Amino acid sequence: MPLIAPSLLAADFANLRRDCERVNDSEADWFHLDVMDGHFVPNISFGLPVIEAIKRHARKPLDVHLMIEKPERYLEDFKNAGADILTVHLEASPHLHRSLQAIHSLMMKAGVALNPHTPVNLLREVLPMIDVVCLMSVNPGFGGQKFIEQTYAKIRELRSMIDASDSPAKIEIDGGVNQDNAGPLVKAGADVLVAGSSVFKAEQPRQAISELKEAG
Ligand code: DX5
Ligand code: ZN
Repeated sequence: MPLIAPSLLAADFANLRRDCERVNDSEADWFHLDVMDGHFVPNISFGLPVIEAIKRHARKPLDVHLMIEKPERYLEDFKNAGADILTVHLEASPHLHRSLQAIHSLMMKAGVALNPHTPVNLLREVLPMIDVVCLMSVNPGFGGQKFIEQTYAKIRELRSMIDASDSPAKIEIDGGVNQDNAGPLVKAGADVLVAGSSVFKAEQPRQAISELKEAG
């Protein structure tokens, strides 16, 4: 069964505590938190104080997805805010190797996210250092977008790269994930499903999470 990481980007920000409790009381595994800076991506979401507030209520690991330029400037701040898994974008990281070392030395799991156009083979040299590869299955910046079908080919290629290596990396899929594509994604090799709209826009978020888990 896949790990499920509901994305709080689709939560009701005026009822964030209630939505955190819904995730706590569900079969979800991680909280997925999308940080956007208005530069790396066109949108601005939330930052450190909101993550600190979520940390006070969350009873599951915080999976923090940085969609920001120069993420290396903020690794320690996100650790202090409560991140357990910290993901930087390859496209924003000219010194990715150094950032992965720094994340590990701060005692967090290290993730690398790839935009839809970025080939998975660019990860080859650092794969053993990565705990989570986040394959973006939409262009990052907004929730509620349509899943990009080309992602399946990337999952299969990455799955064989990981299986042929010593890497502990899990494959996480982010964007447009729902109860219909969860099964095929896991079959292609995904380990973690991020889901925003298909959880928080559902009438029963807890039920929606359970359906994603079962479908996978
Ligand atoms: C997109 C974010 C996603 C987003 C997913 O830039 O990285 O995590 O919240 O939202 P849905 O599931 O609605 O596509
Ligand atoms: Zn995300």
